[in-house]
Amino acid sequence: MTTPKLIIANWKMVVDRARAIELTRAAGTALGKARERAGQAGAIAPDVILCPPYVYISSVGAVLSGGVRMGAQDVAVPHHPKGAQTGDVSPAMLRETSCTAVIIGHSERRTVHFESNDLVAQKVQAAVNHGLTPILCVGVTAEEHAAGQGADVVRAQILSALTNIKFTNDQDIPEIVIAFEPVWAISGGNAAVQPASIDDIRAMHAVIHTVATGPLAHIPKIRMVYGGSVTPDNIAKILAVPYVDGVLVGGASCVPQSLAALIEAGVAPAS
Ligand code: PGA
Repeated sequence: MTTPKLIIANWKMVVDRARAIELTRAAGTALGKARERAGQAGAIAPDVILCPPYVYISSVGAVLSGGVRMGAQDVAVPHHPKGAQTGDVSPAMLRETSCTAVIIGHSERRTVHFESNDLVAQKVQAAVNHGLTPILCVGVTAEEHAAGQGADVVRAQILSALTNIKFTNDQDIPEIVIAFEPVWAISGGNAAVQPASIDDIRAMHAVIHTVATGPLAHIPKIRMVYGGSVTPDNIAKILAVPYVDGVLVGGASCVPQSLAALIEAGVAPAS
């Protein structure tokens, strides 16, 4: 059976509470329609994960509907047994909400908060320990890309985060999502920014597939998504690239109509 495409909305620090609620309702309606259409066409409706800022998690959770999932945008590694970590949010706390996933190692956190590959690996393990789906972001800068180092950088980021991952509960191993996001292609709300070329996406997802089925073959379920200036206009071409199992969308996921269009475009033919 075909695995459903994965549409992940990353609202960053962009939306306010009212918009987060409006978007969540729009996503529920759109996924309902997508499932109906998929059912009639013998196709597969997408999986949808909405990632609001922490402070709106409970508001979004209250209006989640139609099988839409929720994820956080970050998680802390619990170091202190009594939780003496000011400003942090633990994976156990996320599990008390409706969150079932969490974005880890986004390039904005690697840059602004100096998150290292080592810290990212610890966060992925902490998420897995609590049954959360980690959405591990990896990416290359424009300079690394121009120097032809993209594949090496991405491979190193993935291997450092996942090679030593341990699954404590053999019955219930969470899926791992790897999001390839070239740093120069992240729009940051700037409509002039372009996504990576289809050739670049194809090449990098082939590299990630080789890693996932080679050194990471011990991880039972990995989905690979592309992120960076995905819009309703380009999503179909991107989802058609081999080994692209979905998309991680920032700017275009913050507008109800375009979020609905992205979800609608995630309906995939059954193979
Ligand atoms: P963008 O952001 O879709 O606005 O380029 C993607 C991301 O950073 O996750």
